[in-house]
Amino acid sequence: MLSRLSAIPKTPVRQCVGAYTRLYSTTNDTNPSKTKETSPFEKVTVFGAGLMGAGIAQVSAMSNHQVQLVDVSEDAINKGQTYILKSLKRIAKKKFPESQPEQISFTENIYSKIDFSTNPELAVSNADLVVEAIIENIDIKRKIFTQLDAVAPKHTIFTSNTSSLPIADIFSVVSETRKATTAGLHFFNPVSQMKLVEIVKSNTTNTDTFDKLTSFCLALGKAPVTCKDTPGFIVNRLLVPYMMEAIRMLERGDASAKDIDTAMKLGAGYPMGPFELLDYVGLDTVKFITNGWYESYPELRASGIASPSKMLDDLVSSGKLGVKSGEGFYSYAKKA
Ligand SMILES: NC(=O)c1ccc[n+]([C@@H]2O[C@H](COP(=O)([O-])OP(=O)(O)OC[C@H]3O[C@@H](n4cnc5c(N)ncnc54)[C@H](O)[C@@H]3O)[C@@H](O)[C@H]2O)c1
Repeated sequence: MLSRLSAIPKTPVRQCVGAYTRLYSTTNDTNPSKTKETSPFEKVTVFGAGLMGAGIAQVSAMSNHQVQLVDVSEDAINKGQTYILKSLKRIAKKKFPESQPEQISFTENIYSKIDFSTNPELAVSNADLVVEAIIENIDIKRKIFTQLDAVAPKHTIFTSNTSSLPIADIFSVVSETRKATTAGLHFFNPVSQMKLVEIVKSNTTNTDTFDKLTSFCLALGKAPVTCKDTPGFIVNRLLVPYMMEAIRMLERGDASAKDIDTAMKLGAGYPMGPFELLDYVGLDTVKFITNGWYESYPELRASGIASPSKMLDDLVSSGKLGVKSGEGFYSYAKKA
């Protein structure tokens, strides 16, 4: 078990598809939980101290859960700690603008609810809920759940924050009895600000698990929606084809990227056009998702929604990934 470390390295900034839902849903949007619900869980173990895992650990601690945050190395843990501390300090400043002691006490109090670990088996030994938010690789996710299935208490609920992998495939490796207590729990980036959580029910998820996850989300102050175990769940299933269709319009020469963006902002009331969104999300991320859909879902392949785009492929292979690389459909080169 790693103790709370004082060294605070710099955290890299990354974007993913979840990020752009911020444009459509903010903390002021519909929230069914005016009064916070009591959580059915006391101990929450989060796997992956990256962008999403750190955020999930933070919001869990902020709603009074005892949290274990697990990653593979001390370096990864350090990054998670930096992310959480920065975010807590930002919140504390807003909450107590006049009082530095209150800011410090708020930050320390929440932070003290999180333990950091590189030992998965120990970290899950008394967990009520596991939220897996490690890299988007089904083999690695399956490996973790195979390991955890053998050591976690019987009552522990297993969830995955995957954006694009089928929930049933991830949990195909756990014992038959455990399958009823598995589900998708899809948070959005940045977790502390984004209200939405998609609770994904697979064919095996039982009602008690679903109800507990709903209460958990409400206790976090989130707005849960539910979706079957289908590609892209709700948000990405609608947004990814929209962006791909915009690229196809550009490829056909129907209109320029700038005009398509202007049209969707001024004609449809969207805060950003599809090419601005694509650049913001990361072109590699969109390609990864559509390639996965194309390979794994014959119905999506047949519909053409996920067909490869030469323009997208060329941009990605030349390293033009959008805002994060300085160029995508638009250029973001810093002026000297
Ligand atoms: N980034 C987003 O906007 C976003 C939004 C919604 C969902 N997701 C999903 O959340 C998950 C994590 O995404 P992210 O952006 O936080 O990734 P990330 O790359 O920021 O973090 C992944 C972390 O997992 C750790 N890890 C890898 N193998 C591990 C293991 N065996 N045990 C413990 N930790 C391990 C890595 O060291 C890293 O710290 C993915 O499934 C992704 O699809 C991402």
